[in-house]
Amino acid sequence: MSKGIFITFEGTEGCGKSVQIWTLAEKLRSEGHEVILTREPGGTETGTDIRKILLRPETGSIDPVTELLLFSAARREIVTQIISPAIKNGSIVLCDRFADSTVAYQGFGRGMDLALIDDMVRLACGDVRPDMTLILDLPVEEGLARAEKRIEGEGTCEARFEAESLAFHHKVREGFMKIAEKDPARVKVLNAVGSIDEVHARVYEAVCQRL
Ligand code: TYD
Repeated sequence: MSKGIFITFEGTEGCGKSVQIWTLAEKLRSEGHEVILTREPGGTETGTDIRKILLRPETGSIDPVTELLLFSAARREIVTQIISPAIKNGSIVLCDRFADSTVAYQGFGRGMDLALIDDMVRLACGDVRPDMTLILDLPVEEGLARAEKRIEGEGTCEARFEAESLAFHHKVREGFMKIAEKDPARVKVLNAVGSIDEVHARVYEAVCQRL
């Protein structure tokens, strides 16, 4: 059996990753591909429990190292239980956020040491690395406005990061741009301004080039 492909989706709050991943998965499945869709933090029972701690506003401020360890623990579970077996099985694996989010949020956003984050990523992921990463890029203010509407609409209890300052979110976006500059062979930045269909066309074109 041929090895699968691992594609991750990244971006700041409200950039539309989730709907784009879902739309892409449906499209690829309709073409006969075996697609595994997952998200971080989450994707496993343990990961989902960790997700609740990390994203509920009541958790408030936690020590940055604790936060890094929790994201890394959730990642280790999803890598070993879901992502690695699916790649070996020949599937297309689409993951909503992955290690680049840790570099952007904990590294650039919180200002943690990037070398320490690299070590944690290596520990959690072993040799599992995305073959391709799409960053959906949107002005921070626009994304936060979208996210706020969603929070009001859904009454979600996952808004701990949305509540961070505007300056934090700008640092996260700059972080994503630096990640893309550093690794252009893997990472593509796509304009996330536009309708769902317009952005889907950009995503689909980028993925088809890689497939
Ligand atoms: P997510 O479910 O991706 O929501 P959104 O739709 O807002 O993107 O939320 C996950 C949150 O966790 C998001 O605010 C980014 C943050 N995060 C980190 O800070 N570090 C990480 O390593 C990951 C995976 C996510």
